[in-house]
Amino acid sequence: MAYLIGIDLGTSATKTVLFTEDGSVVASSSVEYPLYQPQNGYAEQEPADWWRAVVDSVSAVLFDSGVDKHDIKGIGISGQMHGLVMLDKNGEVLRRSIIWCDQRTAAECAEITERVGAKRLIEITANPALTGFTASKILWVRNHEPEIYAKCAKILLPKDYIRYKLTGEFATEVSDASGMQLLDVPGRCWSKEVLAALDIDEDMLGKVYESPEITGEITAEAAALTGLAEGTPVVGGAGDNAAAAIGCGIVREGSAFTTIGTSGVVFAHMDQPVIDLAGRVHTFCCAVPGKWHVMGVTQGAGLSLKWFRDNFCMSEIETALRMGVDPYYLMDKEAERIPVGANGLFYLPYLMGERTPHLDPNARGVFFGLSAIHTRSDMLRAVMEGVSYSLRDCLEVLREMGLDVSVMTACGGGGSSPLWRSMLADLYNCDVNTARSKEGPALGVALLAGVGAGIYSSVEQACDAVITYNKPQSPDPVKAARYEECYALFRKLYPALKESYAALGELIKG
Ligand code: XUL
Repeated sequence: MAYLIGIDLGTSATKTVLFTEDGSVVASSSVEYPLYQPQNGYAEQEPADWWRAVVDSVSAVLFDSGVDKHDIKGIGISGQMHGLVMLDKNGEVLRRSIIWCDQRTAAECAEITERVGAKRLIEITANPALTGFTASKILWVRNHEPEIYAKCAKILLPKDYIRYKLTGEFATEVSDASGMQLLDVPGRCWSKEVLAALDIDEDMLGKVYESPEITGEITAEAAALTGLAEGTPVVGGAGDNAAAAIGCGIVREGSAFTTIGTSGVVFAHMDQPVIDLAGRVHTFCCAVPGKWHVMGVTQGAGLSLKWFRDNFCMSEIETALRMGVDPYYLMDKEAERIPVGANGLFYLPYLMGERTPHLDPNARGVFFGLSAIHTRSDMLRAVMEGVSYSLRDCLEVLREMGLDVSVMTACGGGGSSPLWRSMLADLYNCDVNTARSKEGPALGVALLAGVGAGIYSSVEQACDAVITYNKPQSPDPVKAARYEECYALFRKLYPALKESYAALGELIKG
C-alpha cells in the first residue's frame, strides 16, 4: 500500500495527516504555536516554532500509524500565505516572520504603487499593493530595519521555509508565490519588471514550480529528525486556499468554496485569469497546472469567533473540557437559540483590518446596535452573522465579475458548524455542501504529492477518484429574506465608519 503525507502550516497550528493513496486518514497530529502581536495591527510568528511543530507532528503520525516510512511515496506542504521569512547566507532566520494579517505596511504599499505604477501592478501581479502581501513586508524591513535587510540572502514564504528545512532547496510554487506581489500571475513566473522597480534581487527568491511538481527530497538530517525516509519526494504543494480547493474538489469552472479558518475566503476556480480592476478580490495561479482562481478574503473570520471564545466563553471552555467536546460545539448550540439578525445586533469582523471589498488596514471590529436587552448569546450570534455578511460581500464581487456560483462547498473549522453553514446557504441563496473528508488543505497537498509521485495522472483525476460530498444544505426562504434585510443594513456600516477608521489609525500611531 502507498501512503501520502499532507502538512498544513496554519496560523494557529500545524496539522500533519498521513493518508492512504485513496485519501483515507491513517493518522493525524496537530501542534499549536503562538501569534505575537507586539503592537495594534502587527502579527508575527517564529519560524522555529513552525519547524518544531512540523518535526513533532510528522514524527507523531509515523509513530502512531506504524507505517513503513519507505511506503510513503510523497509529501505535500500547504501553508498560510504571504508571510515573510528572511534568511542570512547561512540559512539562519534573521527575524520573526511578519505574517499575512499584519497591517503595518500602508506606507510601503504607497511606495510600491509609486514605483511600479498602479495600472502595471494590477496587470502583472493581478492585485493592487496590499498590506497583507509579502512585497510590502520586504520593503518595510528594508525601510525600518536596514541592518537586517543588508544581511538577507533568501526570502521564503512560511511553507517554503519548511520545504527548505526538509529538503535543503530554496523553492516555491505558483499558487503561494502569487501572494508575494512579485509574480507575473498570468505568466506564472517572477516578474523582472516588478523586481527591478522594487530593487529586489531575483536570486533572493526561490525557484518557481507548478504545485504537483517534485521540488526536492528529504535530506538525511530531516530524515533523522522526523523519522521520514531520506529521499522521499516533496512536491510544490500550495498556499492554504489553493490547497483547500484541491481537498474539496474545486478544480473546474463553476465550482467554488467558502472556508472559515482564521481568515475567511470565498474562492472560485477559473480556466483563464480574470482580474478585478478595482482590486477587491485576488486573482492567483491555482494548484491545477495552467489554471487560476479568484478569491475574496475576510481577514477576521474564525479569528473573530476565537477572539470571542477566548475572552467571553470561559464557562463553555470549562464545560467542554468536562464533557470532552469542542467549546465551539457548545457555542454553536447557544447561538442557535437566538433568532436571525441577533435581535438587532450587528458585528463588523475587521479585527485585523479588512481586504475584500474594502481594502482598509485601519478598519477594526465593531458591535453596532448594542442595547440593554442584549446578552452574550446575542453577541455570539452577531459575531457569526457578521462574518457571514462579510463573506457575502466577497461573493457579491465574484458574482459582479460574472462568475457562476450555483453550488458552494464549505470547509475549514467554521465549515463544520451546521449553524454557520446554514447562515451561508441563506445569505448566498444557494446550496452549501461539504466534502466528506474534513482534511481540506492537508488532503489537497497529499493529492498533489500523489500526482507528483505518479499515483494519479492529473490533479483533476486525483480529485475525481477521491473527493465525495455530503448532502447539501439548502437555503430557507423565510430566513433568507430576513438575512437580506439585515445584510442591506450591514453594507451601510463600513462606509459610515470609513473616515473614523482613518482617524483611529492616526490615533493609534500616536
Ligand atoms: C489569503 C490569506 C489567508 C492566509 C491565512 O490571501 O491571507 O487566507 O493564507 O490563512
